[in-house]
Amino acid sequence: MLQVYFEHLIDQRQRDYLSPPPATLRRVRRAALDKLKPQLPRYDDIFALPARAAQHRDFCSAAVTIGTAAELDADARQTLWQHCHFFKPWKKGPWSLFGIDIDAEWRSDLKWQRLEKKLQDLHGKKIADIGCHNGYFMFRLSAYAPDVVVGFEPNPRCYFSFHFLQRYAQVENIYFEPFGFEHLDNYLAFFDLVLCLGVLYHHTDPVAVLRGIHRSLAKGGRVLIDCQGINSPTPTLLLPARRYAGAAGIWYLPSQQALAHWLQRTNFRHINFFYADYLSPSEQRRTAWADIDSLADFVCGERRTTVEGYPAPWRMYVEASK
Ligand SMILES: C[S@@+](CC[C@H](N)C(=O)[O-])C[C@H]1O[C@@H](n2cnc3c(N)ncnc32)[C@H](O)[C@@H]1O
Repeated sequence: MLQVYFEHLIDQRQRDYLSPPPATLRRVRRAALDKLKPQLPRYDDIFALPARAAQHRDFCSAAVTIGTAAELDADARQTLWQHCHFFKPWKKGPWSLFGIDIDAEWRSDLKWQRLEKKLQDLHGKKIADIGCHNGYFMFRLSAYAPDVVVGFEPNPRCYFSFHFLQRYAQVENIYFEPFGFEHLDNYLAFFDLVLCLGVLYHHTDPVAVLRGIHRSLAKGGRVLIDCQGINSPTPTLLLPARRYAGAAGIWYLPSQQALAHWLQRTNFRHINFFYADYLSPSEQRRTAWADIDSLADFVCGERRTTVEGYPAPWRMYVEASK
């Protein structure tokens, strides 16, 4: 059943988004979907239900809203509630799904508020969301009538979470590509806007990520970056020995000047920082839908240090253009 669903997704993309997609991209997609195959049985029950379009959708409020409580009978609602539980912990949100309110670990709506004033006119534009997770920002972007929003995300859980939501939302101009920024060279000079949120410090070669984004942008295209770093006046980087604020997979944490230098040296122009502050435990926290250790468990607020003794997480938002 789910296999059929996958084939359908591929066909739909070929019709609606890149027509036709280049052979190299078709191969990348196929390989990425093949990697997901062993996971299909886990999701069989969820995707076996017939897809149904929500009548009410609201992508302009803090909670991405797909359907109202009145659209489901009691049995269908109970089943949906179980399916929502299956996707716990919800890391990015909030969502309202047929009246089920899902408060995620991250208040992605706060991130969105900071970014929204920098979006400009997106009508008819091609947008990439690198590391799109479950698609929260893709749904928010879709309200601006872009030509297309392409999410790049290699994490299988995110792929299935996105399609769980999209089966009800059925938004036409958003597409989830189940692979990462490593394949951006299939999109040379393609995008008008690239979002790179919460990604650079997770990778061993942030300069390569920025170079790939630069090549994927059309002339005059823009990137919006949210990057974790350190609050330092010098152009320095922190490289944690192992974990940082409890998290594995954190590499270089730049100061604002260091991030500016990365952007300059990858040929970005008009570099403009528009937000910087310590990450607050009101933005990343444990909730009923994300019953996991969160920021407050790993940062000692008063001393502004992580449990490992490093400077506390500092978030910087910057825009730049090609
Ligand atoms: C810290 S999360 C940020 C999610 C979202 N952009 C946000 O700001 O809330 C980093 C995301 O990047 C994804 N990721 C990991 N490797 C990646 C890659 N090679 N290319 C694109 N995304 C990747 C992770 O799976 C995760 O969803």
